[in-house]
Amino acid sequence: MNASDNNPTTPMRILSGMRPTGKLHLGHFKGVLENWLQLQHDNQCYFFAADWHALTTDYANPEIVKNTIWDMLLDWLAVGIDPEKAVIFIQSEVPEHAELHLLFSFMTPLPWLERVPTYKDQIEQLREKDLGTYGFLGYPLLQSADILIYMADAVPVGEDQVPHIELTREVARRFNFLYRKPDQPLFPEPKALLMPASKLPGLDGRKMSKSYGNTIEISEDWATTEKKVKTMPTDPARVKRTDPGNPEKCPVWDFHKVYSTAEERAWVQEGCTTAGIGCIECKTCMLRHMEEELQPIRDRRIALAKNMDDVRDIVKTGNEKARHAAGRTMEKVRKTLKMGYRV
Ligand code: TRP
Ligand code: SF4
Repeated sequence: MNASDNNPTTPMRILSGMRPTGKLHLGHFKGVLENWLQLQHDNQCYFFAADWHALTTDYANPEIVKNTIWDMLLDWLAVGIDPEKAVIFIQSEVPEHAELHLLFSFMTPLPWLERVPTYKDQIEQLREKDLGTYGFLGYPLLQSADILIYMADAVPVGEDQVPHIELTREVARRFNFLYRKPDQPLFPEPKALLMPASKLPGLDGRKMSKSYGNTIEISEDWATTEKKVKTMPTDPARVKRTDPGNPEKCPVWDFHKVYSTAEERAWVQEGCTTAGIGCIECKTCMLRHMEEELQPIRDRRIALAKNMDDVRDIVKTGNEKARHAAGRTMEKVRKTLKMGYRV
C-alpha cells in the first residue's frame, strides 16, 4: 500500500476556464478564484483564458478580448494563482482544442446541443446580440473539447455550467462507445465540482455584476473601494443616526458575514438595532478586514503589471505545457480515428 491509497484527497487533474470579458471583481474572487486557489494546492490544475468562448457572444467586438485578457491574467496571478502549481494558458494558443471540437462535432447529435439550458436562456437574455449562430450553438461542445483534451477528472464550475459537464460526459461516452473497445475507453468522464455562489453581494445588495454597476474591482485602488463602501446603501430605516436598524435589511451585513469576526458581528447586531453605532462606524470596522485582504493583492498586481515581460513568459510557459498535454491526447485521438494515413 502506498501513501496515496489512504489519502482521501488523491490529486486530481482539474481544468477550468474563464472568459475574458471585463475586469474581475470581488464576486469572481470570492466565487471562483478562491476556489481555484484551494484546488491548486493538491491537484494538477489547468486554468485558461477562454478567449474563443468570449468570441461566441462577442464576435462583433473582438477588441473586448484584447482589452481584457491580460487584465484578467494579472488578476489571477495577483490573487495567487501560482504558475509553479497550475498551468496557466490562453485557449487560442492551443489550437488542438479546435481540432478536437471539430472531430467531436461530427458525432454529436444536434438535439444534445439544442437542449442545453443555457442555449435558449442566453439567446433570450442577450437579445442585443444575434446568437443564432453555428458557433454559439456549438460552444458547449468546444467546452467539452477543452475539458477532455486534458483528460480532466473534475471541473470546478458554477451551477449554470453543470449541464455543460453533463454534455461532456455524454460526449466522452459516445466517443468511447463508437471508437474504442469497451474495456479500453480513451476519455474519462469528468465530474463537476460545484462551486457555491459567492456570499458577497454587490454594493447595492443584488448579485455583484458589471452590468449592475455594483462591483468592487480587484484592480481598483483602495481610495476607490473605500469611497464605494462608505456610500453604499444601508438599511433604509436608518435615516438619522438615532434611528435603529436591522442588519438583515442591509447589504453591509453580508459584507460583515464574509469579512468580520464573530465578536464584531455581535457588536454590529447590538449597535445597529439599538442605534448604538453609526453606519460609517459599522462600515469602517468591516473595511479594515477588507483592506487587509485586498492590499497585498493590489500591491502584487501593481508589481506584476510593471513587469509584463515576466507575466507574458509565465503564460508562454503555460501555453507550451498545455500544448504538450493536448498534443499527446490528439495523437491518441487521431490514432483512434484511423488517421494513420497522415504522412
Ligand atoms: N463556458 C465557461 C463560462 O462561460 C468557460 C469555460 C470554457 C469553461 N471552457 C471551460 C469552464 C472548460 C470550465 C471548463 O464560464
Ligand atoms: Fe447596516 Fe451597519 Fe448601518 Fe446597521 S449599522 S444599517 S448593519 S451599515
